[in-house]
Amino acid sequence: MTPDQHKAQAAQKAVEYVQDGHILGLGTGSTVLHFLTALGTRVQNGLHVKGVPTSQATADYATKLGIPLLNDDEPWDIDVAVDGADQVDPHLNLIKGGGGALLREKIVARAAKQFIVIVDAAKQRPQLGLPFPLPVEILSFGWSTTQRHLEKMGWNAPRREQAGNPFMTDNGHYIVDVQIPVIADPASLESAILQIPGVVECGLFVNMTSLVITGTDKGIQLSQTPNQPSP
Ligand code: 5RP
Repeated sequence: MTPDQHKAQAAQKAVEYVQDGHILGLGTGSTVLHFLTALGTRVQNGLHVKGVPTSQATADYATKLGIPLLNDDEPWDIDVAVDGADQVDPHLNLIKGGGGALLREKIVARAAKQFIVIVDAAKQRPQLGLPFPLPVEILSFGWSTTQRHLEKMGWNAPRREQAGNPFMTDNGHYIVDVQIPVIADPASLESAILQIPGVVECGLFVNMTSLVITGTDKGIQLSQTPNQPSP
């Protein structure tokens, strides 16, 4: 099976955790697109949910599928947030932000009672770190000074580019992709990075995940923190 088939498999399983009346956090990325497609079919068949999108791309696709969305400034009471990840470690800590939506994704995941992560098998890693760099969202004001602070911690931190221009997040910020070989202590690293002035958010998601659904050649694999509800 291809990675995309693994993603589709994980997304199909995640839809089973959605119940009528739920407020849903809707992540960003190619795995989430599979989830939205499956969710859209359920909505077209009469399921009532409302979504909180984490990017304009997700909002556009959800709207196309007829999934109702809440406004950005409403006080959300999110039952379940579903999102992809770039890496997952055995403690269910994550690197996210490959798609550049990490800030909204973290706000939405933190606001959810349950945070379900859907991935293909290649995202499972014994430790977080390279080959996937850690995305860090930074203000454009003084960005090269912020980048220098990150590089003084010992790693290269190139600014993300897109078609020859700086990549810009939906929030109008830049992203630097910090090349850290091994992230031995994700919680300490997250705290240290968040203390740098100009850093808006960091792509480490530590102790936030309720359940990881992984699509594999042998079927679905579930990894969860204790006391999680079943579908
Ligand atoms: C976007 C993300 C995505 O969830 C992550 O990059 C995984 O993407 P994909 O599902 O396309 O592999 O964090 O900011």
